[in-house]
Amino acid sequence: MTSSEQAGAGFRFADPVLADVVQGGLTEVEELLRKVVQSEFHPVMETALHLVEAGGKRIRPLFTILSAQFGSTWDRESVVKAAAVVELTHLATLYHDDVMDEATMRRGAASANAKWDNSIAILTGDYLFAHASALVADLGTAAARIIAETFSELVTGQMRETVGPRPGEDPVEHYLTTIAEKTGSLIATAARFGAMFSDASPAQVAALQAYGDVIGAAFQISDDVIDIASPSSESGKTPGTDLREGVKTLPMLYALADEPSSRLASLLAGPIASDELVVEALELLRSSSGLVRARATLDEYAARARAHLDALPAGTARDALASVSDYVVTRTR
Ligand code: IPE
Ligand code: IPE
Ligand code: MG
Ligand code: MG
Repeated sequence: MTSSEQAGAGFRFADPVLADVVQGGLTEVEELLRKVVQSEFHPVMETALHLVEAGGKRIRPLFTILSAQFGSTWDRESVVKAAAVVELTHLATLYHDDVMDEATMRRGAASANAKWDNSIAILTGDYLFAHASALVADLGTAAARIIAETFSELVTGQMRETVGPRPGEDPVEHYLTTIAEKTGSLIATAARFGAMFSDASPAQVAALQAYGDVIGAAFQISDDVIDIASPSSESGKTPGTDLREGVKTLPMLYALADEPSSRLASLLAGPIASDELVVEALELLRSSSGLVRARATLDEYAARARAHLDALPAGTARDALASVSDYVVTRTR
């Protein structure tokens, strides 16, 4: 592979040696993902393979592999397993999230709930999480505990989003807590695992985990901007899903605060059912101050994430992590 070729998740790495290492690791993760979901009972294998094969950016395995470049030695088998555990956990939550969000499209394909039904999607998510649990058992009790705690935090975030802010609670604070839990937690663990299984120092493990936490939240802000600003041909998902579900994301919260008695604010009062009104709300949001301010918050988060990289030794792996943080911002432009 040359430096100009893609090395996973659509990134280009400046260093061809690192690009090779990442590509090799991601290829092994792909093989493992397909292997662990094998079953003699074909229906569950088919539904589990559906989204594995639909693609996805594999950004979490990428973080694990990049974070494994800082330690003294990297235990390749464990790093690949850890990356697969994190991706399987993520995938399980996507099956469940699409049921909760009544989403019809995922990774450019039909969501499992749309292609089959809610029961199938929920059971497939459970099946994938069971396989993540079995795989993480190979990595020892510390890793198993970390995944259990991470999953608990992620589910708490999904619950916090579903329940909404308490009366009197600042909705932006509520949003920022929610995204740290539902998305930051697992990306932090992806990075932590890479560091752990390459014998990185405790300070480096902490720095990579902190980086993952903040860049994970930034990643969710960019996902929420994309739900408003990007066509499905780019995101592989249906724009306006958050509007249809009545989930108030950061651009909407800022728009509501800026113009509380506007037409947009009245549209955002609850879930929007009609396609016409979704299109109208999307158009208003795209030219709103809320979107501008959400992008500014995204920039702040990306800068905060990059600051954690200062605690790591300079080199190609650190540069690659910095370029991933640039990507999280630029993918919304
Ligand atoms: C989607 O995650 C859900 C979020 C936490 C934003 P990704 O954007 O990483 O989804 P895939 O894995 O590439 O499909
Ligand atoms: C998904 O949040 C977060 C998790 C699956 C934990 P969203 O609902 O915003 O993600 P998408 O847009 O469906 O991917
Ligand atoms: Mg969703
Ligand atoms: Mg959701």
